[in-house]
Amino acid sequence: MSIFKELENDLKSIIHNAGYDEETIALETSNRRDLGEYQLNDAMQLVRTYHKNPREIAQDIVNELSKDNRFTNINIAGPGFINFSLSDEYTYKILNSMNEDIFNNIDKKSPKKIVIDYGGANVSKALHVGHLRSANIGEALKRLAILLGYDALGDAHLGDFGRPLGLVIKEIKEEYPDLPYFDPNFEGNYDDIELPITNADLERIYPLASNKSKEDEAYLEDARDITMKFQSKEKGYYELWKKIVDISKEDIKKTYDDLNVSFEIWNGESDEMEFFDELYKIYEEKGLITESEGAKVIDVSKEDDNAPMPPLMMVKTNGTMSYDSTDLAAILERKVNFNPDEMWYVVDGRQSLHFEQVFRAARKANLVRDDVVLDHIGFGTMNGSDGKPFKTRDGGVMSLKNLIELVNEETYKRITNESISEEEKKEISKIVGMAALKYADLLPYRNTDYIFELDKFTDLEGKTGPYLLYSTIRMKSLLNKANFTNGTITKLKGIEEKDIALTLLELPNVLNRSIEAKTLNEIAEYLYKLTSNYNKFYANNKVLIEEDTELKESWLTLTNIVYKTNLMLLDTLGIKVPNKM
Ligand code: ARG
Repeated sequence: MSIFKELENDLKSIIHNAGYDEETIALETSNRRDLGEYQLNDAMQLVRTYHKNPREIAQDIVNELSKDNRFTNINIAGPGFINFSLSDEYTYKILNSMNEDIFNNIDKKSPKKIVIDYGGANVSKALHVGHLRSANIGEALKRLAILLGYDALGDAHLGDFGRPLGLVIKEIKEEYPDLPYFDPNFEGNYDDIELPITNADLERIYPLASNKSKEDEAYLEDARDITMKFQSKEKGYYELWKKIVDISKEDIKKTYDDLNVSFEIWNGESDEMEFFDELYKIYEEKGLITESEGAKVIDVSKEDDNAPMPPLMMVKTNGTMSYDSTDLAAILERKVNFNPDEMWYVVDGRQSLHFEQVFRAARKANLVRDDVVLDHIGFGTMNGSDGKPFKTRDGGVMSLKNLIELVNEETYKRITNESISEEEKKEISKIVGMAALKYADLLPYRNTDYIFELDKFTDLEGKTGPYLLYSTIRMKSLLNKANFTNGTITKLKGIEEKDIALTLLELPNVLNRSIEAKTLNEIAEYLYKLTSNYNKFYANNKVLIEEDTELKESWLTLTNIVYKTNLMLLDTLGIKVPNKM
């Protein structure tokens, strides 16, 4: 249990000893620091149960509180607000326990298993900024869940089974009609065929094929036909499809790696579709499948819907499987293979209707236990300065690779440390660039859209990734210069150190609220708050040349706690810290 939770529990007993019972105590740092570090407004709430004057209740609580030497500066304000501060000794004790083990400042949750779907990159198509948001938010939520004691698994859920692949194969057929894959009489081994296509070719081919299909009905028809062929494992087409998936997957893995995003499960929609027959049978036996204009659908509407709810598409009119069925099949697959307590989907908020359909369909056939949580964790878009989804200069979709390059060029310019070699500078600017991008992406509440502002995101000052990295590295360098290995806090001087201590104590609640709401903005804000509190202290005190050795050791120990907390939280957000910058 965190020290903070312990404190809240102790306050509950104190109030109990004063003759009153409170369900829970939510202790918040006071914004009237002149009155006390903390404020309790329980006396006002207890009025309802105990029908007494709130000041009288407050006085009873204060009498108990005063018996405990951990609390000082106890007073009652207004109608019955109780203000108090933590004694110095108690504050040091708390900090020393954090220094001993930073995890003493975290509350673990009771274990449960969660599968988180946050990949969604599409095979043979370049990743775009939407995929960045999924990956970034999903990875951070997974790390947060693990930090708090959950067993969380990330699933890449690659888009490898839909029409884009049909289009790509159609175009390859146009360009290389003689490839043995297209020869129904081919007798050889498909593994021996040299496919003259790289990932860069695929990224060229897809947009080309997509444009052609918009103008040429017959071309589109062929692509549809090919889609059905590889989906039904037809000889030649299936093997070519597999080859393309392998080429593209390698590149996708590298991109996720660059993003410091990793998956425990590397499934694609095609793997989920292995469960399609079983899935179909379940719905068919329950009589839940109906025909609609040649398609097979599941009605998911409810009587009290106040907007029309379209049916879930199991099989499209043309016989191909749909996006809906891949997600429904994935629920069955995940249940069979992992049996999780929760399934989370970190996917663009504009897909909320799709997930509502899928979840309703899953519930309708009891695909999972009633108590299994199915949650679509939506997010808004990253926009350009025009307020529309971020585009390239010529109006095209911004690929993730280009976006990352753009940011890295900027961070490269901003690293001015002369002692860093050219080679290192390039490596470091990549890490800093990623931090700039990721932090800016996690800072706003996930459902709000935000505007991409290169200058602002890469600035070394302000609420930015680079600022956090720079400050964190400076803490480490201070500890190194002082040859700090370990220490104890026995003495602190001013309000700045106390602010740091109080901010550190807020962490368990910040983490708690974040996992409950599945958001990361509060952690991002917290990192900034803690870091800037520390920097204020750092600017006003010359730690290295401090002559009072007791004070110096205490300051270094405090620095160490903030440093370790920053590392832990940056890692939770999936942000790497370079050795220097
Ligand atoms: N591949 C899809 C796309 O790029 C995203 C998939 C999201 N995840 C899911 N389970 N549907 O739009």
